[in-house]
Amino acid sequence: MMTMDYHNAVLLIETVDGLDIKPNGVYVDVTFGGGGHSREILSRLGPNGKLYAFDQDKDALANTIDDERFVLINENFRYIKRFLRFYGVKEVDGVLADFGVSSHQFDVAERGFSTRFEADLDMRMNQDSKISAYQVVNNYSEEQIKNVLLQYGELRQSPAMARVIVTERAREEIKTSEQLKKVLKPFLNHKKENKVLAQIYQAIRIEVNQEIEVLKELLLQTPEILKEGGRLSFISYHSLEDRLVKRFIRNGLFEGEPERDMFGNFEVPLRKVGKLIIPSRLEIKINNRARSAKLRIAEKI
Ligand SMILES: C[S@@+](CC[C@H](N)C(=O)[O-])C[C@H]1O[C@@H](n2cnc3c(N)ncnc32)[C@H](O)[C@@H]1O
Repeated sequence: MMTMDYHNAVLLIETVDGLDIKPNGVYVDVTFGGGGHSREILSRLGPNGKLYAFDQDKDALANTIDDERFVLINENFRYIKRFLRFYGVKEVDGVLADFGVSSHQFDVAERGFSTRFEADLDMRMNQDSKISAYQVVNNYSEEQIKNVLLQYGELRQSPAMARVIVTERAREEIKTSEQLKKVLKPFLNHKKENKVLAQIYQAIRIEVNQEIEVLKELLLQTPEILKEGGRLSFISYHSLEDRLVKRFIRNGLFEGEPERDMFGNFEVPLRKVGKLIIPSRLEIKINNRARSAKLRIAEKI
């Protein structure tokens, strides 16, 4: 089936179970992709249920589902509240997110997400976005590049890497993945070459798509759009993301500790449901992309 080639949904049953679907409920899948999770949600909804889905990638539109209970919105989920309001929706029963890149985005060489192919530096999930990997590599200052590699790639050698990029790009602009790899060769001459390159790519991708900012914006809006008892069911793929989801569920904040009253209690908008869920060994064997998945579920208090 076409959508299976597009993307193989991770933790499909667990994530949708996490929403505790009510047949007449209103749900949002903020990362539609190949629509695996959306189809599962629809299969559990009755005739009066409703599902809104978001994907900022035009390619995902080809997977749309012909169902009158379903609406696909080709926008960034950072605008979730605004677009739900546009459709007359103020509150929902659940929000599902499966962050990161789809297999399709990864497998199409020209999108520039994969270290496997020679391609122009791109990595934009939204093809109309102004910032691509090319801009990050060629126009950012040395300091900015260092910070991107350090914060999002957790690469200790980021100052030296940024230095080399800035020196080399002064000679010749760095347009392709092959050029970038060549420039960074001094850091890739050992056994962990693939891991380091993957970290560099991850860092640039997070910057290009502002993944941390949009995740924070989404989390901050969830208490406003969820009904009491409404659920969120979010899958993260790297520790930066998972840390934000975990802390927001626990404290209603991304950093620091919440203010406590004289009894030491504090108010939070969400309550965690169950424990962290990770894929089984079998799922990882069948779908390697599942290997770093972490699912967290919470409900609105
Ligand atoms: C891992 S895939 C989701 C796969 C999907 N759950 C399925 O079953 O096929 C992530 C998708 O979310 C989209 N996406 C990522 N960040 C987004 C954002 N901020 N706004 C809208 N879509 C986003 C990507 O374009 C990609 O198609």
